[in-house]
Amino acid sequence: MSTHAKTRDALAIAHHYDVSNEFYALFLDPLMVYTCAYYREPDGTLAQAQADKLELVCRKLRVAPGESLLDIGCGWGSLAIWAAQHHGARAHGVTLSKAQADYAAARISALGLGDRCRVEHLDLRDLPDSARYDKIAAVGVIEHVGIPNYPAFFGRVHAMLKPGGLYLNHGITHGFHWKPTSQTEFLTRHVFPNGELASLTETLVEMERSRFEILDVECLRLHYARTCRHWVERLQAHADEARAIVGERTYRTWLLYLTCSVVAFETSSIGLYQVLLQKHGDRTRGDAPATRETIYRR
Ligand SMILES: C[S@@+](CC[C@H](N)C(=O)[O-])C[C@H]1O[C@@H](n2cnc3c(N)ncnc32)[C@H](O)[C@@H]1O
Repeated sequence: MSTHAKTRDALAIAHHYDVSNEFYALFLDPLMVYTCAYYREPDGTLAQAQADKLELVCRKLRVAPGESLLDIGCGWGSLAIWAAQHHGARAHGVTLSKAQADYAAARISALGLGDRCRVEHLDLRDLPDSARYDKIAAVGVIEHVGIPNYPAFFGRVHAMLKPGGLYLNHGITHGFHWKPTSQTEFLTRHVFPNGELASLTETLVEMERSRFEILDVECLRLHYARTCRHWVERLQAHADEARAIVGERTYRTWLLYLTCSVVAFETSSIGLYQVLLQKHGDRTRGDAPATRETIYRR
């Protein structure tokens, strides 16, 4: 998987994300977050844990009123909307899925956030060269990038980040040396065409090569196991509606992939890390906070 042509990537994303917004709404939380949640409480609900995850990302990025935030791979707009609504950010989301962008635009309009939040159906690589942001997030996107493309991807993010800016990368990892197996073939053929996972170490090396300084790394692997378990339970609870919307084959394929994901996260076959970065040597806004306390304070 040496290169990801834009058209090929667009088709791969459409295969997974344009299945049907109604289908995803059956098992995702009300904010339609399609990445690992953050369970502050042992028995927390999916809805609360997803809201807490969005807040966690904003706090790690120290999003402040009036700051510009780029949400790369914004899905159905949850983080961009949260940052605009709760932190006063000027949020800009981009997604390769038209169904997601249309859904997000309708939500932004319904919430009256159009003056400070927008989502575009756009490939990250098609943002203008002049685009600059105070804060950048990529939540659940690196899995689609392709390992050979990491230098270009992180290089682009670095170029778009203003001095004093912060970048948060939230993504699934895999043990060293991703190689095709029957499981990965099922995933890439039926679920995530073009999907490719790197180890944390490989990812961090490419980030450092792209002139980023790594400020914080947090493992959320068991949170993702739990998130996937909640998705499985919700999808099964809505089996008849799901079959009516997407058909038996897609319903079963998604159920199988989500169930396998629970096991893979529980057994450490795959991991989930949030990595917070700034430009290497950047002292524009002084030192980063010495502790994590501001992130977790209620
Ligand atoms: C797993 S979803 C995560 C969505 C969202 N961040 C969330 O947490 O719910 C991955 C997202 O990455 C987007 N994506 C992948 N490659 C992209 C690219 N080159 N440009 C823009 N978006 C991309 C997909 O369209 C999708 O919205």
